[in-house]
Amino acid sequence: MMTMKTLARALALCLTLSLASAAVRAADSPPPPAPGGPVEEKKTELESRMDKVGKAFRKLRKQVADPAQNASSLELVAAMIDGAKDAATFTPAKAADLPEDQRAAFVGRFKDGIKDLQDRLAKLQAALQAGNNADAAAMVNDLVDSMKKAHKEFKKPKPE
Ligand code: HEM
Repeated sequence: MMTMKTLARALALCLTLSLASAAVRAADSPPPPAPGGPVEEKKTELESRMDKVGKAFRKLRKQVADPAQNASSLELVAAMIDGAKDAATFTPAKAADLPEDQRAAFVGRFKDGIKDLQDRLAKLQAALQAGNNADAAAMVNDLVDSMKKAHKEFKKPKPE
């Protein structure tokens, strides 16, 4: 039979053990973010669409010349076409930094740029469907140049 004294000792031991394990858990958890530290900016809607276009394009560049991978290349181009269609419905973040009287023309040029991208992607799709990999590879190279030009004009400069 357990006496009252033994029972009290057992209870005290349980309490000590659970307090000790809580202390170990607290020591394991990551520290809270430092105040004033770098703040992760949320992606803009346009950035998320461009991200989709960019991920597919990165893979496509590696395989576009290889006819054996045309089925997969066509899927990548389809993902880019999808992303570009969505991108056309947004406005670059840079527009907000421009003087009011320049904004409409800037957004107009952006829409033309996306239209040009869509035309290029449609031609690239047709070349791959026809199994014309040499042309498709050349089109991808041209796309790199036109992307760089577009980003120079339409992307907001990164803060130093
Ligand atoms: C093959 C063509 C293109 C690729 C692969 C591409 C890819 C990308 C990528 C990876 C980003 C960064 C997204 C992020 O920060 O997560 C981006 C941003 C951006 N791209 Fe493109 N892009 C292409 C063409 C274009 C074209 C033609 C335009 C304009 C006509 C354009 C306008 C922009 C803008 C404005 C941003 C910054 C997003 C914002 O302002 O919110 N891109 N692009």
